[in-house]
Amino acid sequence: MSALIGLQCHLCKTMFPAEAIYVCDRCLGPLEPVYDYASMNLTREKIAGRPENIWRYRELLPITGEPRTGFHTGFTPLVRCNRLAARLGLSELYIKDDSVNHPTLSYKDRVVSVAATRASELGLEVLACASTGNLANSVSAHAARLGMECCVFIPDNLEAGKVLGSAIFGPTILAIAGNYDDVNRLCTQVADRLGWGFVNINLRSYYAEGAKTYGFEIAEQLGWRFPKHLVSPVAGGTLLPRIARGLRELRTVGLVDGELPRIHAAQAAGCSPVVSALQSGADHLELVRPNTIAKSLAIGNPADGLQVLQTVRETGGTGTAVSDVEIVAAIRLLAETEGIFTEPAGGTTLAGTIDLIRRGIIGPDESVVVCVTGNGYKTAEVMNGQLVEPVRLSRAFKEFEAWWESRQAPQSVA
Ligand SMILES: Cc1ncc(COP(=O)(O)O)c(C=O)c1O
Ligand SMILES: [Zn+2]
Repeated sequence: MSALIGLQCHLCKTMFPAEAIYVCDRCLGPLEPVYDYASMNLTREKIAGRPENIWRYRELLPITGEPRTGFHTGFTPLVRCNRLAARLGLSELYIKDDSVNHPTLSYKDRVVSVAATRASELGLEVLACASTGNLANSVSAHAARLGMECCVFIPDNLEAGKVLGSAIFGPTILAIAGNYDDVNRLCTQVADRLGWGFVNINLRSYYAEGAKTYGFEIAEQLGWRFPKHLVSPVAGGTLLPRIARGLRELRTVGLVDGELPRIHAAQAAGCSPVVSALQSGADHLELVRPNTIAKSLAIGNPADGLQVLQTVRETGGTGTAVSDVEIVAAIRLLAETEGIFTEPAGGTTLAGTIDLIRRGIIGPDESVVVCVTGNGYKTAEVMNGQLVEPVRLSRAFKEFEAWWESRQAPQSVA
């Protein structure tokens, strides 16, 4: 049975039916699902007995029938990182690793599983999105799985791996001459005109709820408790506030108690409208034109930016903006210490964590979860010229031996 009551305006609290609508027609506020928490009767045991995917928390997700996709999405590893912790001077550090999320290797499979199931319930025939790459990959894969028509809109400068990661599933791909914010503006017009199911526009109220599962899993995997700090990437601003919303819901239904983590927002310095507002104390965002290698985070006009500001401030978090050089160094550090290969979004959160430690905001004995939300194999370009080249040898053993001996020779001191 579904606990979904309807959609409610985040600002003026007007209620709406659970359809493909996303803004309040009275005040233009965003719409959020409302649930009957009292009817849920969720227990830790009940959840533990369910399959390890996002739907183990299905009462807290906005669908009315059975899940239709995402049966292998979520329940990604929460990796205890002792070697990395030692390097950073921390005692309890975890990576929540959505670089291995199924099926398209980013956190977006969570939000798309929910939006695509809802789109299918609502009888929509075309699944679409405006994307910086990962979302297009995920929409394409889930549409293929559901046998839906699919059309994804992306900026025309994306990494080859991100384009391939959509094309393989056979959608129509529209590469638009412009940045994400231009793509999104165009898609809003298309959504109004054609009635397609744009997961992050007219299905946004459902889509965003899928991001709560990232937070649910962190709490469950820590043994039903919250960490002291959590460092989240911010692009459009879906993930960060929904982690907090999810954690609050766990308290509401009685699964966890305790204080929410301090939730920190990490952005690339080349696109940091949210972090700038956090640092200046502003209550609005100055829009920016992105210029960073973290293309998945390159959104200058974040749809949910104000919700990010509110959540970070309410939880006692802060903002951190890091350079492209720091992002690449953090990608390497994570790979070399923990065997996890992330894309620049994950480099951004780890570099941001390092900055927060340096600033004394994260203390050495406080537990930290760093969000790694995407996979490095999709953004191979950013490592060009950064890594040690293979040693090239012929097939002859003698050549190997000569190389090996040269390596064993004591280094001469200049
Ligand atoms: C890998 C990755 N991480 C994080 C994000 C941030 O997403 P948002 O702030 O829109 O939830 C994105 C968005 O595209 C992404 O692709
Ligand atoms: Zn309203």
